Amino acid sequence: MTVPSALLSHRTDEHLTPRYILDAVLECLGGIDLDPCSNSRTCPNVPAARHFTRGDDGLSQPWDGRVFLNPPFGRDVDRWFQKLTAEYCAGRTVAAVVLWKSATETRAWRILTGSADVVCFPARRIDFEGDGPRTGSTFSPALFYVGREHTRFARAFAPIGEIWVVPRRLVHAGP
Ligand SMILES: C[S@@+](CC[C@H](N)C(=O)[O-])C[C@H]1O[C@@H](n2cnc3c(N)ncnc32)[C@H](O)[C@@H]1O
Repeated sequence: MTVPSALLSHRTDEHLTPRYILDAVLECLGGIDLDPCSNSRTCPNVPAARHFTRGDDGLSQPWDGRVFLNPPFGRDVDRWFQKLTAEYCAGRTVAAVVLWKSATETRAWRILTGSADVVCFPARRIDFEGDGPRTGSTFSPALFYVGREHTRFARAFAPIGEIWVVPRRLVHAGP
């Protein structure tokens, strides 16, 4: 039987953040005001004060306060990073931690590193939690910090991996 691609892409969205990462996020931000792309409103994985789910469409909502973002890893991921940049520049988002991957060749990476100053490269891959058994990931993870408290980020995430200052580009690549 062929599984419809819409179902497949929906299922692959459900990479739930493991608790040890959330603990580091809480230590860094001091609390999470918003998870803009939550698995559930009634049983959310992220201990945030507010959650937007697929039904709310987090991309069309304001992102206030301290944000933790583990976006759907699809082709549209650029839109989540553009949204974060816009909300941070507008002063609605005051700080954010983003869980994504080390994909330096992508447009999404360029957008995200336009506003993230510091990044943690975990020493090991992340076992995401999902609907079924724990899913070992096949990509190199990276955690980005957008905000002013670089030292807090470094202190909270140092046990997870190396902390790097995002290099400033000298030459822009193509589109
Ligand atoms: C990678 S998971 C992260 C879940 C949770 N935030 C966490 O970190 O454990 C991405 C989530 O985004 C949700 N999602 C997909 N499109 C969305 C949208 N437009 N608005 C809000 N949430 C969305 C999916 O249902 C999925 O649960």
